[in-house]
Amino acid sequence: MKRVILFISTILVLSSCVETTKESDEINLYSQRHYKVDEKQYEAFEKETGIKVNVVKANADELIERLKNEGDNSPADLFITVDAGKLQKAKDLDLLQKISSPIIYQNVDIDLKDVNGYWIPITYRARIIVYSKDRVDVGELSTYANLTDKKWKNKVLVRSSSNAYNQALLSSIVANRGEEAATNWASELVKNFARDPKGNDRDQVKAITAGQGDLAIVNSYYIGLLLSSENDEEIKAGNSVGVFFPNQGEEESGSHINVSGIGLAKNAPNKENAIKLMEFLTSESAQKTYTNTSYEYPANPNVEPNEIVKKWGSFKKDILDLNQLGVFRNKAIEIFDKSGWK
Ligand code: FE2
Repeated sequence: MKRVILFISTILVLSSCVETTKESDEINLYSQRHYKVDEKQYEAFEKETGIKVNVVKANADELIERLKNEGDNSPADLFITVDAGKLQKAKDLDLLQKISSPIIYQNVDIDLKDVNGYWIPITYRARIIVYSKDRVDVGELSTYANLTDKKWKNKVLVRSSSNAYNQALLSSIVANRGEEAATNWASELVKNFARDPKGNDRDQVKAITAGQGDLAIVNSYYIGLLLSSENDEEIKAGNSVGVFFPNQGEEESGSHINVSGIGLAKNAPNKENAIKLMEFLTSESAQKTYTNTSYEYPANPNVEPNEIVKKWGSFKKDILDLNQLGVFRNKAIEIFDKSGWK
């Protein structure tokens, strides 16, 4: 009799263990990404694993606020951004946990990794210069710093300084060249603006096509998106500009890049599913989907960029520790305010 009771209680203990450790068949993402390719990826993941992907979309700061407010009760498993700086910020606020998965670390390029292990890259992008093929001799282009030359007066197009891509670029300049050089760069560049900053990256390219300026600072994948668009006007805009990677000289830093990356939420209720999704998104097949749908560069070095992107050639990346983009963010915003970059 005793033995039977012991047996039954063992079963009860075991089943209650299973109950408490069992994850749901869901995963909750807080994502800043705003591209069509993401839905495609999550659908493929759901099909392969049966794990349902729920997405909350907002900008990175809003998502960080939400994670903070929800605290231990947050349903979030993963925090996805288009900026390593915001991942660094989330880590600094103790909202993330370390990611341990040999598969993920094998999948991604060593240059793009978080040195502290709190986030992983899924794609990267370069902030490049595009120029009017009709009006600019590419031989005159060299560095971000060169854009402040007087010869580009009234010719430079760029979006507002409130934009995260510009803030990350300026953070990289502060990190690489110091506050004074960054301050001079921003204030001198403003003097060369073709118009007050407005619109998104694609709008800057369209403004070149319309003759409103000759050069623009944009993220690389937008050119791929324009060239592969179904809209004739967008294709025309994409074709009217050439792609130039700045800072390629031997002594120079390389072109500024940033990652789109994922942090594992500190209290992720579905941690195992979250790791599975990160492994999936860095796998060769998902990386091909990214490169061929959103024209970003793959974080997985075994995957080639899309044909359109490959035609621009390879380039030297700025291999700054990308966490620095978060460390110098407030400084960059302060410099922008002083520089008059709206
Ligand atoms: Fe974007």
